[in-house]
Amino acid sequence: MDIVVQATGIQKVYGTKKNLVSVLEGIDISIHEGEFVGIMGPSGAGKTTLLNILATIDKPTLGSVRISGTEITTLRDEPLSEFRRTNLGFVFQDYNLLDSLTIRENILLPLTFSNKVDFTTDLKVEEIAGKLGIQSILDRYPYETSGGQKQRTAAARAIIHNPKLVLADEPTGALDSKSSMDLLSAFQLMNQEYATTILLVTHDAFAASYCDRVLFMKDGRLFTEIVKGDKDRKWFFDQLVTTLSSLGGGRYDII
Ligand SMILES: Nc1ncnc2c1ncn2[C@@H]1O[C@H](COP(=O)(O)OP(=O)(O)O)[C@@H](O)[C@H]1O
Ligand SMILES: [Mg+2]
Repeated sequence: MDIVVQATGIQKVYGTKKNLVSVLEGIDISIHEGEFVGIMGPSGAGKTTLLNILATIDKPTLGSVRISGTEITTLRDEPLSEFRRTNLGFVFQDYNLLDSLTIRENILLPLTFSNKVDFTTDLKVEEIAGKLGIQSILDRYPYETSGGQKQRTAAARAIIHNPKLVLADEPTGALDSKSSMDLLSAFQLMNQEYATTILLVTHDAFAASYCDRVLFMKDGRLFTEIVKGDKDRKWFFDQLVTTLSSLGGGRYDII
């Protein structure tokens, strides 16, 4: 299996000389093609900072990030945008849909931006929307849909261009439990049917229990990982909760 993400020695320091805050303190990660990997840890652990660095949104102070073999930390402006458009898909907590476009047009955006709309596009949107359970709302506007439907739209948009990697930061953060389950099942399906490589950042053990492998962060470091293997999701969830409580996160961070 190819390696999609290879990050080594990632450090991130914020602030000025007099007031330095070290947020990531030497992180190494590799993710293989087709993996569904979670990153968990209490609030403030550095999860979002790390995800943004892997997502090319932020740059590390030190270290190397290779995505599908390309060193992204040294790419600038236009090549970086081009890289992001072609290789990455994003799902954030607050959906980031464009209100003036229909659900269908929102899903199509990555193809529109890269001029890749062609005769196969409609079928592709219908297929993905069907799998994610949003086929019937394709011609609605975002304000006519629920939070869960918006987030599944964001998931469809994240994979429409067959990216190498989909990055999601607390994607269930604004959803009720039924919509969270639907979204997580959608991620699982994307991973299994399209072999999409997914990196999911969450403080929620329930969300993380859908992954194959979960890395734990605390105070800017990775300190352990748990692999689901052939065990069931309930077993995995229990392991995640136990590990998370041993990290000393508050109750809010566990549930
Ligand atoms: N732009 C910034 N300047 C200074 N400190 C920051 C900045 N962004 C994040 N931090 C700090 O980095 C730490 C990790 O933040 P973050 O990556 O958002 O954690 P998490 O996503 O795990 O909750 C926090 O202590 C936060 O206050
Ligand atoms: Mg965060």
